[in-house]
Amino acid sequence: MTMQYTSAQFRHSPIAVTDSGVGGFSVLRELQQLMPHEDFVYLADQWHVPYGPRTMQQIQYFEDGITRFFLNGCEQLPPAKLIVIACNTASAAALHHVRATFPQIKFVGTEPAIKPAAERTRSNHIGVIATAATFQGELYASLIDRFAQGLHVHKRACPEFVTLVERGGPYDEADQQQVTEILAPLKAAGIDELVLGCTHFPFLMPLIQTAMGAGVEIIDPSPAIAKQTARVLKEAEADTDRNMPGQTLYLTSGDEVHFRNQLEALLGLKNPDVRVVKWTENDESLAMT
Ligand code: DGL
Repeated sequence: MTMQYTSAQFRHSPIAVTDSGVGGFSVLRELQQLMPHEDFVYLADQWHVPYGPRTMQQIQYFEDGITRFFLNGCEQLPPAKLIVIACNTASAAALHHVRATFPQIKFVGTEPAIKPAAERTRSNHIGVIATAATFQGELYASLIDRFAQGLHVHKRACPEFVTLVERGGPYDEADQQQVTEILAPLKAAGIDELVLGCTHFPFLMPLIQTAMGAGVEIIDPSPAIAKQTARVLKEAEADTDRNMPGQTLYLTSGDEVHFRNQLEALLGLKNPDVRVVKWTENDESLAMT
């Protein structure tokens, strides 16, 4: 049963942000910057990371459990007012599904930024890097259909990049070499725009830029997702009217120590508010420990 809230309480509820791991931090930091008075709760489903090689059905099942967790809230966490799926893979697999299943809450999803790449290219060759699951989804096909007619779209699944970001830096010569080798076919194809179709990838920006060379523009959609979230909140009159700085609670379904190290390395946070959540045995629901 979802709790009933007055509109004032609802406005002060947190915005939930979720990803398979720490990739969604690239979206979260933009959200925090754009809406400094909002509270956020970030859930890294590191028990299940990576999502990329999984089936659509599996990912939908995880998103169902995560949505119920955010909707119900618990003693330490009020129910969320909006959910940002800061994961291209989960959006490709489950955005339609969760919108249909949970009409009582709004969702903002993440999709590869094909449109700006198509508008800016001069060579008519654009590149897209994402997970295999993102390329399989209908969402990707429809983006290509709508925005990339007549262009050469060179795509490449890069699950190795998710592994690199989840492992964390510092990145050495061997890592750079791996990134360069994986991206070599895109470079050879003469692309001048590269779309980061996975929220983990902005954290490899220096390695990707080195691999592609200065002539290739790399498109990170995170600022656009943050703007879209602010728009949706305003339209729903659900944006906070408080003036004090917002708080963020960081949750992982994985290892707390590793997650704390990642928060420090990627977001520069020394002592963030971290809690561990656990999946039930059948992966059906999540609970705070
Ligand atoms: N960060 C994710 C994405 O945007 C998922 C990576 C993964 O878990 O495979 O696609």
